[in-house]
Amino acid sequence: MFRPYYPVLRLFQRVGLLFSFAVVYNTGWADISPQRSQELLKMVRHDCGSCHGYTLKGGLGPPLLPADLAGKDPEFLEATIAHGRSPQAMPPWLGLLTQEEIRWLVQRLIRGEVP
Ligand code: HEC
Repeated sequence: MFRPYYPVLRLFQRVGLLFSFAVVYNTGWADISPQRSQELLKMVRHDCGSCHGYTLKGGLGPPLLPADLAGKDPEFLEATIAHGRSPQAMPPWLGLLTQEEIRWLVQRLIRGEVP
């Protein structure tokens, strides 16, 4: 009785699967181990925090809290972290961090998920 609907159901299943892959890929969370994510979050407090403030409320560098980053293009923020902003004090991090780790960090900052 339900047979005619099977292809439709299968299509939904596939779209769902593709959607999950897209989410994982776009947030760049696929390859970051729990241990590495702890290291990265610690680094944000200590290394980035030395300029942006330990609580990210700003210092030598501007604040990096969600309200401050709202409306800014994530790719622009990623490029800032990757390549720095010479001649401003913001140093480049690509090399110490991978592009994927930078994308992950930007998502965490935007969402305020830096414990
Ligand atoms: C030596 C000081 C210093 C360190 C360390 C530093 N920053 Fe910065 N950062 C700055 C300054 C200064 C600016 C503003 C540059 C400008 O005037 O455009 C900035 C800008 C930024 C911006 C752009 C903000 C915006 O609103 O456009 C982001 C994002 C950022 N930093 C993230 C980081 C992250 C993540 C780290 C650690 C991996 C880090 N910074 C480490 C000094 C620093």
